[in-house]
Amino acid sequence: MSYYEIQGGRPLSGRLTVQGAKNSVLPILAAALLAPGESVIHNCPDLSDVSATLDILRLLGCRVEQQGDTVAVDATAPGRTGIPEHLMREMRSSVIFLGAVLARMGEVELSYPGGCELGPRPIDLHLAALRTLGAEILEEQGSLLARRGRGGMAGREICLPFPSVGATENAMLAACSCPGTTAIVGAAREPEIADLQRFLRAMGAEVSGAGSSTVTVTGGRPLHPAEHRVMGDRIVAATHLCAVAAARGELELTGVEPGTLSAVLDRLEEAGCRIHTEDGRICLSSAAPLRGVRQVRTAPYPGFPTDAQAILMAALAGGTGATLFVENIFENRYRHVDELGRMGADIQVAGRAAMVSGVGKLHGAAVRSTDLRGGAALVVAGLAAEGTTRVTGLAHIDRGYAALDRDLRALGAEIRRLP
Ligand code: UD1
Repeated sequence: MSYYEIQGGRPLSGRLTVQGAKNSVLPILAAALLAPGESVIHNCPDLSDVSATLDILRLLGCRVEQQGDTVAVDATAPGRTGIPEHLMREMRSSVIFLGAVLARMGEVELSYPGGCELGPRPIDLHLAALRTLGAEILEEQGSLLARRGRGGMAGREICLPFPSVGATENAMLAACSCPGTTAIVGAAREPEIADLQRFLRAMGAEVSGAGSSTVTVTGGRPLHPAEHRVMGDRIVAATHLCAVAAARGELELTGVEPGTLSAVLDRLEEAGCRIHTEDGRICLSSAAPLRGVRQVRTAPYPGFPTDAQAILMAALAGGTGATLFVENIFENRYRHVDELGRMGADIQVAGRAAMVSGVGKLHGAAVRSTDLRGGAALVVAGLAAEGTTRVTGLAHIDRGYAALDRDLRALGAEIRRLP
């Protein structure tokens, strides 16, 4: 079983270009199914979640070629509408194929994605959105069969009671095949939704409003393949920034829009970092122990991202002063807390709240990743800690980071992947 071995306590310094965004590339690859012909997607990060998505596309009958970080998906003749259970289990976000396959083939069968390490993650909002557009969905024994209803599918108003990222994307994809106008009201405003909109528009779709809480799609027209460059990953950027903030040093990041990271940058500044931003570039310098900051409440974009909660917590745990975190998006997102405790962190959890009291310095320990961002948080903690940290459970980290150890070594970190 591989693990990261980190010799912590060394300052970091250097430049990095941020990889393409995992949460953007997955729906965009699924969207490539919508048009016959070959779409070309650039800046695809080398992640296990991307490999799983490409496996699903191949299985559906697409030809997929990968060269470096460019992926060509030829969706001329997809032949299958079913996704087997083992692929659905591998990656919860494969639920995005619900809208994409339904739009292209008129029918889709997949197993229920079920829960995950962040607590229950239902898909009721995805199903309600597709039903509003006229899909008939049968749910039995853990599998889902969705098809165009007898009366066909048509554009309608979809009201989301919570701005779910996945449900917004599934509704956008399905709506592309529905004649008439669909308005998704209460849509998620995440930048990855705007990236999906850019790709759909390049394919000839009439989509607008992404980034606001109403996304409008006028569907039913044939789409054509397109070329697209995936936006930079704001959570990977947050990881690098928190690593340098905690270990101290200087970082220049390119390939990510600073505006997509405002909530994280605000907190790092408040914790004592100096930050300078311009188009596509963020510079951070950290010279003193991080200070506690005002409450960090996770919220839908543009609020503080739940995906950066563990990472900022790890950075602040070895600083000074107290910070209260409130996790409002997922029920079970404090599983990194016990592991940080092994490194000397003082964090008290009560329900959705976690009070972090900075201990000045963490110490190295053997710790285990319990989920993707929780694992990245342990790496951040290990870089700032005194002594040696071993992080196991790298399969979680590989879902979202193309080469976290390589990136960090480029900043002077002592981190090795073993064996
Ligand atoms: C996406 C991101 C994930 C991020 C999350 C929140 C991808 C591939 N993943 O996940 O990294 O942590 O947004 O920013 O983009 N919910 C329901 N019913 C539904 C759907 C969601 O109750 O049908 C609830 C979820 O249980 C959760 C909340 O809504 O509590 C947010 O979920 P959602 O925005 O859908 O997250 P994902 O799209 O799964």
